[in-house]
Amino acid sequence: MPSLRAGVDRLPPYVAGRPIEEVADEFGFDPRSVVKLASNESPLPPFPEVVEAIAAHAGTLNRYPDNGWHEVARAVGEWLDVDEKNLMFAGGSSELLRVFALAVGGAGTSAVYAWPSFIIYRLASVLAESEPIEVPLTADHQLDPDALVEAIRSDTTVLYLCNPNNPTGSYLGSARMKEVIDRVGDSALVVIDEAYFDYVTASDYASAIPEALARPNVVVTRTFSKVFGLAGLRVGFAIGQEKTLLELRRAQAPFTVSTLAMAAAIEAVRHPHRIRERVEANETGRQRLARELSMRQIEYVPSQTNFIFFRPIPGVNLEENFLRRGVIVRPFGEDWLRVTIGTPEEMNRFLSELDEIRQQTSDIRHETPNLTSDI
Ligand SMILES: Cc1ncc(COP(=O)(O)O)c(C=O)c1O
Repeated sequence: MPSLRAGVDRLPPYVAGRPIEEVADEFGFDPRSVVKLASNESPLPPFPEVVEAIAAHAGTLNRYPDNGWHEVARAVGEWLDVDEKNLMFAGGSSELLRVFALAVGGAGTSAVYAWPSFIIYRLASVLAESEPIEVPLTADHQLDPDALVEAIRSDTTVLYLCNPNNPTGSYLGSARMKEVIDRVGDSALVVIDEAYFDYVTASDYASAIPEALARPNVVVTRTFSKVFGLAGLRVGFAIGQEKTLLELRRAQAPFTVSTLAMAAAIEAVRHPHRIRERVEANETGRQRLARELSMRQIEYVPSQTNFIFFRPIPGVNLEENFLRRGVIVRPFGEDWLRVTIGTPEEMNRFLSELDEIRQQTSDIRHETPNLTSDI
């Protein structure tokens, strides 16, 4: 085995939310009793019509998928009121991020993004041999538009803006977003990652699609992994100018969107009422969780997504405590956790485990001074 190419040898493997089976095995649980709230997936399966469409296409898998995405582009284009030429598809929006990084990166370039934000910006930049420039969020966990623009150097070829931002759930309003795009000019590719677009209810937020259609250096990415419940199938898409997408596509491998993924996406966008129902259920769950955290005086960041970033006990990392109780959440830094909005039952379970963990931890904390003074 030859040694890895410089850069790739520094790439940490992507750490996904821990799978249910792994946690069940490690802690000796029945997998059915484990609640996964770690990867911002939909708690609900794909729409029944989508499951049927997937099954109906299984018999055609002897053929390669349509590498021109014709039908799916038509369906998604109609749904979004965008010309099909302005769409590009991939095996999940994370593939798009990697393709864009490879297309405009390379030695001697840099990539700017906020931190903490979606880890793929970092991994894709390192893979593409671009120097990552990570711009801290503001003290209240918001994207910092001025700092992001100011971080752009003459060698910066891409700026990633995760809006709303993962893991914080915070967002940039449309006026501020437009200002950032204006200030960047055309020096760098601006990738606006709208993976959580569907869940946003804030009135001052808007998609950056009009900007992507108006400017050659702006693209928006979206995914079928969230509200549509299709994370396991891998399909995402970008919106941008035709020429831009054709250029960026050169860095993409052929056939990365499977026939089943395209069939599912085509069917999924035909059910706007089901999308609305899920968005409303998420909003109800999100408001409830925010209320419950406030009642417990737990610090959290107001969210426009299907997850909430919170700090259950300052200075204490509680991920392991949740795992031991069969609840998978995502840790960030020393003491922050991100929890996905699940079904009402899953949220009941999460909250009761949270209460028990806090109770236990405060018991231990109260005991600790006595123990120390005894020594
Ligand atoms: C901000 C952000 N972008 C993109 C993705 C990736 O989505 P996909 O499943 O389409 O690769 C995620 C997934 O969690 C995400 O949080």
